Amino acid sequence: MNDAEKILKTEAKPINEWLDRLLPGEDTPPKQLHKAMRYSVFAGGKRLRPALAILAYRWAGGKKEAIYPPACALELIHTYSLIHDDLPSMDNDELRRGKPTSHVVFGEAMAILAGDALHALAFELLAMGGKIGIISDVARAIGTGGLVGGQVFDMEAEGIAPTPEIVERIHLGKTAALLTVSLRVGASMADANADELEAITLYGLKMGLAFQIIDDILDITADESRLGKPIGSDEERNKATYPAVFGVEKSRTMAEELLAGAKSALPEGKDNSAFISMADFIFKRAY
Ligand code: IPE
Ligand code: IPE
Ligand code: MG
Ligand code: MG
Ligand code: MG
Repeated sequence: MNDAEKILKTEAKPINEWLDRLLPGEDTPPKQLHKAMRYSVFAGGKRLRPALAILAYRWAGGKKEAIYPPACALELIHTYSLIHDDLPSMDNDELRRGKPTSHVVFGEAMAILAGDALHALAFELLAMGGKIGIISDVARAIGTGGLVGGQVFDMEAEGIAPTPEIVERIHLGKTAALLTVSLRVGASMADANADELEAITLYGLKMGLAFQIIDDILDITADESRLGKPIGSDEERNKATYPAVFGVEKSRTMAEELLAGAKSALPEGKDNSAFISMADFIFKRAY
């Protein structure tokens, strides 16, 4: 196990305990809804977004448990986006985190509603952080100018000949925006200064773009049982991906360069080791 995998494993334990505490119980009505929410949240997943928030919190000097509800909120938003992303009307995928997707198990209507409820609960948890700026920062990152906008560009680009500009816009929106704001949430919860926020934002944008490029590559090169989601889904739907524009090899090189840029965005004189390990881990996933 490399450093980043060790960090993710260590951070995942309390994150999962907090998620369990913060999500409604399966015996509380509406039971089917709560079952569906828990099914997707606890299906697995690297917990990358809450881990990044917690790492950024500590990096900026934070020491309290108050980071956990906002950090968990980011995982709920991510999980909601995956449930909706897999729907028949979107990517139409039937495997996620190694299990049948939400709509396969609970039906389409319940999958949509489970996603909606996770999204709503996320904002309740963000508000527990007690900082209005964080709530609006996340709202902006996952709305029309971020995640949802990116998903729309992704849909609109299906079947057209993608250009470098189009794929970059899709990936910055659908993926890099949430990863970046996860870091920003952590830093802001610890009252980071403007220079620290700027540095972590630049790291997040470059790392986030590289993360989605690697995800595109894995859709071609990975093993389905190890990845826990279908292979070849992008090609089947004629998605605008980096490999579709540049080929796999060039995409790898671009991800490598972005990750080098992400690392060099980190300020001197701070302990950046966790973020450096994360960047290296993201690149190694492509092999
Ligand atoms: C998958 O994200 C969706 C993308 C933005 C590429 P992850 O690869 O972080 O998925 P989980 O959370 O580990 O399942
Ligand atoms: C995921 O992009 C982005 C969001 C869910 C917002 P993909 O469609 O490439 O993600 P996977 O490959 O299904 O995880
Ligand atoms: Mg998609
Ligand atoms: Mg998808
Ligand atoms: Mg993908």
